[in-house]
Amino acid sequence: MSTSTSTSTPRPPCKVKLSPVHGNGVFATRPIEAGERIIEYLGERIDWPEALRRTEASDGPVNHTFYFSLADGNVVDGGSRGNDARWINHACEPNCEAYEEDGRVFIHALMEIEAGEELNYNYALVYDERHTPAVKRAFGCLCGTPGCLGTMLAPKKRKSRAKAKTKT
Ligand SMILES: C[S@@+](CC[C@H](N)C(=O)[O-])C[C@H]1O[C@@H](n2cnc3c(N)ncnc32)[C@H](O)[C@@H]1O
Ligand SMILES: [Zn+2]
Repeated sequence: MSTSTSTSTPRPPCKVKLSPVHGNGVFATRPIEAGERIIEYLGERIDWPEALRRTEASDGPVNHTFYFSLADGNVVDGGSRGNDARWINHACEPNCEAYEEDGRVFIHALMEIEAGEELNYNYALVYDERHTPAVKRAFGCLCGTPGCLGTMLAPKKRKSRAKAKTKT
């Protein structure tokens, strides 16, 4: 008589469904503990010139991105060979954080998250051009968290006083 062994894979901690914030979002399927690693942000690793080329070729809206910038200056393109992590929306007061470890990006919980809650992290998008009102509108944030800043863009770095000073 043969004995059967259970080879069931653990249920993923999150799933994709429509979000009240924007398009698709990612939601906890079970309670998630603070500090828990939830999912890796997968995608094709490309350099910035290639990322810009793809953006121009796609003709998509400038305010929609699946790119995740890496510390080495490269980019993970979640739109190519990506996984569910690419659907995680931004929030100004997020319940998750994206962090880089050995060139890989992981999403982990900043706090306890209940089953059914939407996952989010702060994109802190860097946009080097002028943050005109039109740009701010295009990157407007709909996260609805109490501390919402109204934008997904990271504040522009101010010139240091030493650099800004031209005369002494
Ligand atoms: C990586 S996608 C996230 C998935 C997105 N909801 C979708 O269905 O494509 C990132 C894009 O989603 C939109 N998005 C994410 N969070 C948002 C927020 N808090 N407010 C407004 N738009 C948001 C922006 O267009 C952003 O560039
Ligand atoms: Zn917000």
